[in-house]
Amino acid sequence: MKDVIVALDFQNREQMRACLERFGSARPYVKVGKELFYAEGPDVVYELKERGHRVFLDLKLHDIPHTVQGAVYSLARLGADMVNVHAAGGIAMMQAAREASESSGYAHPLIIAVTQLTSTGQDVMNRELLIPGTVEQVVLSYAKNAQEAGLDGVVCSPLETAVIKKELGDAFLTVTPGIRFSNGGIADDQVRVTTPAQAGADGSDYIVVGRPITRADDPLAAYARCVEEFRGGIDG
Ligand code: C5P
Repeated sequence: MKDVIVALDFQNREQMRACLERFGSARPYVKVGKELFYAEGPDVVYELKERGHRVFLDLKLHDIPHTVQGAVYSLARLGADMVNVHAAGGIAMMQAAREASESSGYAHPLIIAVTQLTSTGQDVMNRELLIPGTVEQVVLSYAKNAQEAGLDGVVCSPLETAVIKKELGDAFLTVTPGIRFSNGGIADDQVRVTTPAQAGADGSDYIVVGRPITRADDPLAAYARCVEEFRGGIDG
């Protein structure tokens, strides 16, 4: 089922709680990133799980396979529903993440690969990282590696969703940030953005939405609009 994941990009638990209180009895799927996780630690995940949220832990793991295996095991024990790793760590590292999720005996989080960060442009990729080709080619090739390693899907930009679905099949999940409402939405620091409806039409399985929801005057209404437009494919 297509779903909207609310990015809880906060510095501490108090800010997170203040935001979630605005949702009333709704329990959106949420994303915890490095800012909040490093500030508050595993307790923040326990708290969110106790409140009834599903949790995407966006920690972008990248290390030797043995270490990533242990890290995913630890995150599975926290009850994470989704975790991510850098595809640049290679197929063996991604397989190790997959095995940890399956054998954890706790939650079996979805494992999603980060291909190229959207902050990495073609010039940096070619000249600094010495990776030839276009960003699109590299994203697709890393996504194929992720599929070969048995991962569940990739985080990708709105512009990449359609081609990834076409090449790798519908069951391979796409998680898409960079979402803005069609009218009245400010892009903030996002360069390439799309609407919830367009992301839905392109085949995204999950959209990750932060400020358009968390900084809205009425976060619950913004969240509900986002879900409706994403699932319905209609621009508001
Ligand atoms: O506030 P906004 O909707 O821009 O938040 C988007 C979220 O998705 C942030 O947590 C951001 O770090 C994350 N993200 C992104 N672009 C990527 C990967 C992650 O915006 N390529």
